[in-house]
Amino acid sequence: MTNKEAVQKAKERRGQMLLGGGESRNEAQHQKGKLLARERLDLLLDENSFVEHQRYMRGRSSEMGLGSKRFDGDGVISGTGTMGGKRVFLFAQDFTILGGSLGEMHAERIVEAQRLALKNRTPFIQINDSGGARIQEGVLSLQGYAKIFRANTHASGVIPQFSLILGPCAGGAAYSPAITDFIFMVDNISSMYITGPQVIRAVTGEEISQEDLGGAGAHTAKSGNIHFRFSSEQDCMTTVKKLISYFPSNNGELPPRTVSDDPADRKTPELEEILPENQRKPYDIKDYIGHIFDQGSFIEVHADYAPNVVVGFAKLNGHTVGIFANQPKFYAAALDINSSDKAARFIRFCDCFNISIVTLVDVPGFLPGVNQEHGGIIRHGAKVLYAIAEATVPKISLIIRKAYGGAYIAMSSKALGYDRTLALPTAQIAVMGAEGAANIIFRKEIDGAGNPDEIRQQKIDEYKDSVMNPFVAAELGFVDDVIDFEDSRIELIRSLEMNLGKQEERPKKKHGNIPL
Ligand code: HXC
Repeated sequence: MTNKEAVQKAKERRGQMLLGGGESRNEAQHQKGKLLARERLDLLLDENSFVEHQRYMRGRSSEMGLGSKRFDGDGVISGTGTMGGKRVFLFAQDFTILGGSLGEMHAERIVEAQRLALKNRTPFIQINDSGGARIQEGVLSLQGYAKIFRANTHASGVIPQFSLILGPCAGGAAYSPAITDFIFMVDNISSMYITGPQVIRAVTGEEISQEDLGGAGAHTAKSGNIHFRFSSEQDCMTTVKKLISYFPSNNGELPPRTVSDDPADRKTPELEEILPENQRKPYDIKDYIGHIFDQGSFIEVHADYAPNVVVGFAKLNGHTVGIFANQPKFYAAALDINSSDKAARFIRFCDCFNISIVTLVDVPGFLPGVNQEHGGIIRHGAKVLYAIAEATVPKISLIIRKAYGGAYIAMSSKALGYDRTLALPTAQIAVMGAEGAANIIFRKEIDGAGNPDEIRQQKIDEYKDSVMNPFVAAELGFVDDVIDFEDSRIELIRSLEMNLGKQEERPKKKHGNIPL
């Protein structure tokens, strides 16, 4: 073969490889409303930054007709690129080749990307679009999954890991995304389940569509398995890029600080108007978030799941922070099983990656109820206490209104580890609400009085003045300052910045045993 012929042959093979499963299968992928794997990488990465590894790797099995279905790349594209200048390692499964199913070499390529991400301490992004274990390859493919799960686990807490489910993600395959930090889905193209509608029909007799069972809607609102839902792949990629820009590349770095257009001395008088005079009336905590943090910087996580707490990332004077806030619009903001899980997992992510935590507190306590007790609210609620006590990042709290009982401890207590706790003049800090307290402590006096309602009100007012008001906690040093509404942003920035040099050690151990 002449040099020219060799070059020509290599060109042809490269062209074939870049075509994936071929034109008709690529067309079918588009017909399903899905982008091709390479189009996805183009959308995610900086222009011309993608470098592929092991691009000609092929399956070596020939069982069950696979001998005639050997494709360069083996149904996955893996490598590295930059996002806003920041290096990431990643892979995108190619559904046009054997349904993106995972065989031995497909798995090897993924594990190589995971290895390189961990070695280089960069974020890792996986784009899943696959029929799961390649059935013809049997145990080889199971072996591949085991390697991937192990690598995901070892990278956890060292580098941020994102999973974009942009097609099917069936069976045990779903456990790899579940081990990563954040899962993203897009309406009508993404699905994730351990057993599909047909198996469920056969085993339990239940009828359900693929979308209702494992689509984006089901996983955002019902199972809580995923964190972000979008109506298009483009929107999904935009949020992925924004999040990557907020985070450090690994647990040894601090989050990058950006220049904020929003002045650090901006006053926030609107906060007083937003808070209703009637304490039983709800308001939207997201209005507070919108006014306090750098404008337009808030990215909500788990928006449709356990909405009684709001968690998400934002910037405060250009610093990335994690927000953990109560939402009085739902369940009067009481903490329940699901919101405890949501908050604890979020707090632990922040702590892994040196992201300071800011809590906005208006919480009447943990939610009462037989279902909650029997569902394990003790165990689940303990996760929040554990996560906060364990976290060594700066932790700042602003008490807006109620801060009662164990929920106060979880969200504001300096004894649990908050570095600075601020209160608005409307804060009420106590074991429980004034009405409940008066009814318990003064039950005999109230029942025995000729005018019980009047006496009850007297006792309630007395309790509010003498026990709940924020100056009681401030006198004891449990609240650092009682601030004006208009100074909320300014004081939170000061509180954060005075703690950015924080260093805290924990006893050396293999790992803790958080109540799961
Ligand atoms: C081999 C597969 C495959 C698989 C799909 N294909 N899944 N090949 N192994 N797991 C092939 C199909 O045979 C087909 O090839 C091509 O990919 C496209 O698939 P279609 O079925 O035509 O596509 P679509 O109609 O869009 O349906 C997609 C699908 C369906 C919903 C994913 O293919 C499906 O249900 N696949 C099986 C899913 C599954 O049960 N996987 C195993 C899960 S258990 P041709 O050449 O005909 O076009 C598992 C265990 C892991 O993963 C355990 C780890 C712990």
